[in-house]
Amino acid sequence: MSKYYITTPIYYPSGRLHIGNAYTTVAADAVARFRRIMGDEVFFLTGTDEHAQKIQRKAAEAGKSPKQYVDEIVDGIVELWRVLNISYDKFIRTTDDYHVDAVQKIFTRLHEQGDIYKSEYEGWYCTPCEAFWTETQLDGGKVCPDCGRPVEQAAEESYFFRMSRYQERLIAHIESHPEFIQPASRRNEMLSFIKSGLEDLCVSRTTFDWGIQVPFDEKHVVYVWLDALTNYINALGYPENTAVYQKFWPADVHLVGKDIVRFHTVIWPTILMALDAPLPKQVFAHGWLLLDGGKMSKSRGNVVDPVILAEKYGVDAVRYYVLREVAFGADGNFSNELMIQRINSDLANDLGNLVSRTVAMAEKYFGGTVAASGAAAAPDDDLKALAMETDGSSSDAINKLLLSNALADIWRFISRTNKYIDETTPWILAGDDSQRPRLAQVIYNLCESIRLIAAMIQPFMPDTADKIHARTGTDDIGRTWNDGGEFTVSKGPALFPRIDLEKEIAELERLTV
Ligand code: ME8
Ligand code: MG
Repeated sequence: MSKYYITTPIYYPSGRLHIGNAYTTVAADAVARFRRIMGDEVFFLTGTDEHAQKIQRKAAEAGKSPKQYVDEIVDGIVELWRVLNISYDKFIRTTDDYHVDAVQKIFTRLHEQGDIYKSEYEGWYCTPCEAFWTETQLDGGKVCPDCGRPVEQAAEESYFFRMSRYQERLIAHIESHPEFIQPASRRNEMLSFIKSGLEDLCVSRTTFDWGIQVPFDEKHVVYVWLDALTNYINALGYPENTAVYQKFWPADVHLVGKDIVRFHTVIWPTILMALDAPLPKQVFAHGWLLLDGGKMSKSRGNVVDPVILAEKYGVDAVRYYVLREVAFGADGNFSNELMIQRINSDLANDLGNLVSRTVAMAEKYFGGTVAASGAAAAPDDDLKALAMETDGSSSDAINKLLLSNALADIWRFISRTNKYIDETTPWILAGDDSQRPRLAQVIYNLCESIRLIAAMIQPFMPDTADKIHARTGTDDIGRTWNDGGEFTVSKGPALFPRIDLEKEIAELERLTV
């Protein structure tokens, strides 16, 4: 049995999370569930990043203390993950005592060994990104090179992390570990950024106080990214050499959005080098869900609140949609219309109808219980072969974090199974008594295909997988085709009711005016 440590970024509790934010965590959840099914010992970490300057500002606007403010929002985030069926093993808050303590110990150690020193900071700060920029990096402009929003001037006495010291080691690591930064396009981007020269990093602030205090210099708080990134080891008990840390560090994958790759592949590995700790095996950057090609925000006619979407269409429809829509590394487009179209075509039509037609035929022709008869014909082998090929290819894709590809593979098999009904025409077989054994075999093959489909979609859509298994009277999640056996089916409501697109869009318009 092997161990598998997967993390999501820890989220800023600065407002309600939208469907784009949910993408990272739903993706991590699907991978974690798949790994558990495959027998790995999984540690799946998520949490919240609470010490950002923008949070102090928002709290002040809301007339609350920062802690009061984040506590309420964090409750909402925990509730969102419950609704979305996120099977995390640990939820870390950067305001947790053990984390604060660990960050202070790390900061002190780096200072004592000379990796952190005091100096004067003069430069620019992007508050939304919580990122420092030098004059050269701004290239004459006064906007953040990452997000394009205005930067603010900052000048203060600060502590600096000697990041420049690790430049060559970092380049060598990235070059000798092609899997470290994925996808490859991000890796090339980061390599050229690092080769253009790493400067030392400002790692403390004195102009606000919502943060972890530098223990030996109390007017300083620790830079929020140094605080946040170390969550990945602190959650395991670092700096104590705990059994959990021993077992799970280094992480197998940090799953992150493309906007925070730089922090995870430059700042984080150099901190770990300074701490003499192993580097994570992989930082995987996924693309974004965009709204009309741009950033996600509240907009007329589009509901982006995942809690509302899950209430309206079901949790699994939301999980399916985000994982199917965003291809490997690329951006995907979000709109309620696209989502409803996918629910209608992929879920209601392809999957839902396959299950309900099969269950209905098993009831009508066999009173609900159908056994394999051995009366085989040509399309059976083709169906079985694709079932086994799909198990292999979709598992492979998940192992490479190509979740959209995995779902596309599974849906190709679902289409193949639907086509099998058209090819075998059970309603014609049913009119001919001598064809009873063949009819039984056809319905058996359909049930077996559906059982396998449920097994394959389980990491992505756990509730739906359970429902389908209940319809076909089995809890067998084995992934090989069984030639013998029987199924006892039972009817139930439509897995995914068809949505009237026009009526629904009008209703959403009303919700968002
Ligand atoms: O960055 N589509 O937190 P965060 C897909 N606290 N992903 C999106 C997205 C979209 N439209 N919008 C945001 C932070 N995300 C830091 C992380 S980790 C040590 C600290 C993703 O709340 C984004 O890329 O701003 C990131 O992976 C996650 O949501 C959290 O973003
Ligand atoms: Mg962000």
